Amino acid sequence: MKLSVIGTGYLGATHAAAMSSLGFEVIGIDVDPKKIELLRDGKVPFFEPGLEELLLQEVKSGRLKFSTDFADAKDCDIHFICVGTPQQPNSLAADLKYVDAAVDAIAPHAKSGSLVVGKSTVPVGTAARLAKRLAELGSLAELAWNPEFLREGFAVEDTLRPNRLVVGVTSDRAEELLKVAYKPLLDNAVPWIRADLPTAELVKVAANSFLATKISFINAMAEICEATGGDVTVLAKAIGYDPRIGSRFLQAGIGFGGGCLPKDIRAFMARSEELGAKQSLEFLREIDSINLRARQRMIDLVRLDLDEDLKGRKIAVLGAAFKPDSDDVRDSPALDIADQISQAGASVSVFDPKANANAKIRFPNLNYVDSIDSCLSGAEIVLHLTEWKEFRTIDPTKAKTLVSRANIIDGRNALDRELWERAGWHFRALGRSTR
Ligand code: UDX
Repeated sequence: MKLSVIGTGYLGATHAAAMSSLGFEVIGIDVDPKKIELLRDGKVPFFEPGLEELLLQEVKSGRLKFSTDFADAKDCDIHFICVGTPQQPNSLAADLKYVDAAVDAIAPHAKSGSLVVGKSTVPVGTAARLAKRLAELGSLAELAWNPEFLREGFAVEDTLRPNRLVVGVTSDRAEELLKVAYKPLLDNAVPWIRADLPTAELVKVAANSFLATKISFINAMAEICEATGGDVTVLAKAIGYDPRIGSRFLQAGIGFGGGCLPKDIRAFMARSEELGAKQSLEFLREIDSINLRARQRMIDLVRLDLDEDLKGRKIAVLGAAFKPDSDDVRDSPALDIADQISQAGASVSVFDPKANANAKIRFPNLNYVDSIDSCLSGAEIVLHLTEWKEFRTIDPTKAKTLVSRANIIDGRNALDRELWERAGWHFRALGRSTR
């Protein structure tokens, strides 16, 4: 079986390398010649743990190739569409131009009986529309949907050992072809769910909406803890022991960001409105507001600490990526906060182990430094905004010698409060009262 992967970003590059590692011949296609050049050399244009090693191994094996020419995919049995579906600039809806362009570009080359399989996150109804489009273009390929649930930072692991495989198909043949492609995973007892096209599309946005809801729920509890003197970390631990609730994704802090959760819940709301079911997802509007409010609460704490006067104040920001083990700064809560306090006149130093370069492109106004020590140097207040391991292992006693005031706010509830307080720091965190 030969496979093509169209779009070689986080999702596509990982999927291409992973499918090649399962023994298939894979061609990765992208319209960006620079990206293709890098990938051909076994280099990943972003940071994702373990991916570069896998990619290099697969390129060297000769099974994995890359091209900018869709005609190079003509012999493939399955074409996986892995392009982005970002939020439209002036609306909540997803921009489908890359998905549409990918289908139009592969249609003339996809051989009769091959499968075009969408993996991108799309508004429900897109797959049916694209199936029609393929037919209109005279293609004899069949359309299926196979949503991807990988997390950045765990992309390789999640692709090779997913907790389920969901396929939206309109024929037994399409399901059988996908079963051949995923046989090695199915042999490892990965659950297989066959669905129709709309259900497969919905599974993805429903899963992301649930995750976003869980995070905003605990952040709403953090607000209540702040109003009552409670401690959200203890509360999360206590409710998490109930297996019906579960302890994961109950980490209160500055909230969710990245290229998926925020735009997916917004696109889901926009789609529900088009479908005349606006009310069903009205709660997601509140989930989004709670999430954005967490960033504001962090800024309010900084203002409070600095007597409302941010002008010229030296602030250290630890973290720029939207989460650790990633260099992705799309909709990063950390950078949003850093930018807002900088706009208010503070002098902000930012350090992220991997995301400084990407952050600088988006927010050139901030002062990026290349070590924790230079970030802390002379700071009046330290903000811990992305929970990298490097930050969790900082020695607070040594750190105290670098700052001008030993004052820290943990925006991720990930630092050891006792340790910092014992070293003489004034320690605060979202959802936890000050002692
Ligand atoms: C998410 C989904 O998890 C994944 O299944 C989907 O395929 C893509 O979207 P990802 O964007 O990589 O993955 O990040 P995720 O690990 O879900 O974290 C999202 C955001 O939520 C991050 O900003 C993270 O810091 C935040 N988060 C997560 C919390 O604030 N608290 C938590 O308890 C968990």
